[in-house]
Amino acid sequence: MEGFIESAPLVEARSYERRMETFVDPESRPVFHLSPRVGWMNDPNGFSFHDGKYHLFYQYNPYKATWAPMHWGHAVSEDLLTWEHLPAALAPDEPYDDLNGCFSGSAITLPDGRHLLLYTGVGQGPRRQDGSMSDCQVQCIAIGDGVDYQKYEGNPVIGTDALPEGSSIEHFRDPKVWRCDDGTYRCVVACQDSDGSGLILQFASEDCLHWEKLGVLVANEWRYGTMWECPDLFELDGQTVLLTSPMFMLPEGHDFYSGNGTLCIVGSYDEENKRLVEQTHATIDHGIDFYATQTVLTPDGRRVMVAWMQNWDSVTESSSYRWFGQMTVPRELHVRDGHLVQWPVRELEARRHDLVAHSDVPVEGTIELPGVRGRVIDLLVSVRPEQEGGTYDEFVIWFAQDDRFHCSLRYRPITGTLKINRIHAGSRRAYVHHRKCDVAGAPTSLDLRLVMDRHSVEVFVNGGTQTMTMTIPTDLSADAITFFARGKVVMDVEKYDLA
Ligand code: FRU
Repeated sequence: MEGFIESAPLVEARSYERRMETFVDPESRPVFHLSPRVGWMNDPNGFSFHDGKYHLFYQYNPYKATWAPMHWGHAVSEDLLTWEHLPAALAPDEPYDDLNGCFSGSAITLPDGRHLLLYTGVGQGPRRQDGSMSDCQVQCIAIGDGVDYQKYEGNPVIGTDALPEGSSIEHFRDPKVWRCDDGTYRCVVACQDSDGSGLILQFASEDCLHWEKLGVLVANEWRYGTMWECPDLFELDGQTVLLTSPMFMLPEGHDFYSGNGTLCIVGSYDEENKRLVEQTHATIDHGIDFYATQTVLTPDGRRVMVAWMQNWDSVTESSSYRWFGQMTVPRELHVRDGHLVQWPVRELEARRHDLVAHSDVPVEGTIELPGVRGRVIDLLVSVRPEQEGGTYDEFVIWFAQDDRFHCSLRYRPITGTLKINRIHAGSRRAYVHHRKCDVAGAPTSLDLRLVMDRHSVEVFVNGGTQTMTMTIPTDLSADAITFFARGKVVMDVEKYDLA
């Protein structure tokens, strides 16, 4: 980019990742999920369609496969599945605004064709009572050509003076920007109220550089965890949707679990009061490794979401590779009957090959099916009771299986619970290894789609009305799949390999 001045920390990060990526074994990476060029990845950032390509940035520490002061990694794709790494886009290099990290944010193309990144700069705050230095989080801008980004001299564009009185200057982050129909801009930003609960603030701008406060869009009021990170607000299928990732949740049945979770609020937008009118609340994904969602509107009008396919509560296993963290498969979103529906982007279907299909297979006890195995696959299973109107005790799919290890997905129609489980997948650590989900309506017939990409599985239940996402530590040689029924069921199975 003309006139672009690369700071010393960015030069260092770019030269380090160029040298070190050659040491990353490509076989260790997922095939069609984005993983970091080298080092550590967390939240998706700046998910946008710019200059003919999808851009996906991410929270990034190139130097080690652990979290540290955040950079922004950068990748581009034409089909949301084949990602090409570009040089790191941002490094923490501004003494006043972001020396402690360039935290999560979003991106938009300006009318003059430039690409604008709106991110949280973490600088130094005042000394705390215990003598340590506090952080100070503000919203900053960098503008670029899709490869090089110059930080804006007017940073921060939203400072801590925009916070409601008493809010924490240490927790004011994750701006998500969008353009309104009239050509103006809005953004939502997360912060923590004086009592420690979460607020989502809304701002408006004519030019994306000067921002005016519109007030509190929604207050958490101690429901669903404490602070709500990574907010994203959009219209979909005639409703307003807020996606966010609450910290420190308390469990509620099988809907929410303790720790870091995700939340989708479907409702409507009250333009007069600039508030979200809430109707339904649900977890976005019932699995284990899923956090910090972000969406993009595609040129053909689809709302597509990715998330970090990890969770702070399960980052306890050290990486034996030179990288850690990956994104979920991009998912097309819809709202049906007030609830979020997710489905892998249709581009994934072009990756399918070598179909193996078995229909009307009776299962009682354990069976294997010829040709049904693998770890980079798209597996569709429809199960129903043998007798119409009948039932069965349970149906299980074991996968990523060998003589010693397996993961499982177990459904009990009596309670309507679907359980994902990796207790026997080879982890030697006692963090979360199983989760349950109450399948809506507790049906006896169930459609499951399992998208597996080496060390992960994403389960889409009944057309994507519920999902369960999990990483799998097991060696790739464990690729068997078996089916089990207590009672009598009949199933149809389609398995594709994914290129
Ligand atoms: C969410 C998060 C964000 C923050 C970023 C820092 O996972 O905590 O709130 O911007 O990660 O890496």
